[in-house]
Amino acid sequence: MHDNDIERVAVLGAGSMGHGIAEVAAIAGYEVSLRDIEQEFVDNGLESIEWSLEKLAEKRQIDESADDVFSRVSGFVDLERAVEDADLVVEAVPEKMELKRETFSDVDRYAPDHAVIASNTSGLSITEMANATDRPEQVVGTHYFNPPVKMSLVEVVHGEQTSEETVEAMHSYVESVGKTPIDVKKDVHGFVVNNVLVPFMGEAAWMLDEGACTVEQADSAMVFQRGYPMGPFELNDYSGIDIGYDFLDSSEFDVPPPIAEMVERETLGRKTGSGFYEYDDGDGPTYG
Ligand code: 3HC
Repeated sequence: MHDNDIERVAVLGAGSMGHGIAEVAAIAGYEVSLRDIEQEFVDNGLESIEWSLEKLAEKRQIDESADDVFSRVSGFVDLERAVEDADLVVEAVPEKMELKRETFSDVDRYAPDHAVIASNTSGLSITEMANATDRPEQVVGTHYFNPPVKMSLVEVVHGEQTSEETVEAMHSYVESVGKTPIDVKKDVHGFVVNNVLVPFMGEAAWMLDEGACTVEQADSAMVFQRGYPMGPFELNDYSGIDIGYDFLDSSEFDVPPPIAEMVERETLGRKTGSGFYEYDDGDGPTYG
């Protein structure tokens, strides 16, 4: 069916990126295993996929029924069972290097020898993860953007030992799920997009801190004057204030006080109902 040797894809981590990556694979016709460490997380991920597929089906943005696509997705807590017959494993667990390395080492033990192991990290070193396996040439970054089902770009990040064959396989896979791959040939922290995007959100937060702008001013300037789909604060709320915080905190950038305070208060944007804006129904800013 596909122009590559991949039939089954395992996605590790059922959070907002993981379930979206799993959904994108299922829409493209792959059999998908979605795995998380607790059944509750798996169930939440599966529910989000169902919700999204229903929306896409209503708008005729998928060719099959939501049920037909969803029938290709299975949930797992057991890592071994999730990856034992996978041709491609995509890791989307939290952004902690030790956790990533443990996950890579386990996947290396249980996944078939031919399987490629890809990380959806936003910016951590692919080379360091690859070194936790005995197949570093088959380890690569495939960095999706939120929401994966709507965003067309995927960064294909080369680790120091990633083989040309693995890169080609990922190009073919990314294209088969209807996305555009861009190569990041240097495994630098944050790759390309986040090195541009996160400081953009950070700079706006510094201006807010200095009283130089309001949240609404900065967002409207970017949306109405520059034509961006979302301004820096709306985007920060959308992608998760903790995600931007983790990136800034693990790089040479200082974390602006408004972002640090929100992480401290656990008001992390849309997913918690409150961030730079308030969210009544989880679907858009109410400028509260
Ligand atoms: N599945 C199905 N439908 C979805 C959905 C999903 N996952 N997410 C939102 N929708 C629906 C909404 O519910 C809404 O439906 P409705 O019209 O029935 O109410 C509809 O899509 C929204 O559609 P709109 O026409 O209003 O918006 P667009 O579709 O034109 O755009 C967007 C939505 C693609 C999110 C756009 O606002 C956008 O591009 N925003 C910027 C996103 C971005 O930059 N993401 C990158 C973040 S950074 C990142 O991920 C990197 C990481 O490493 C930190």
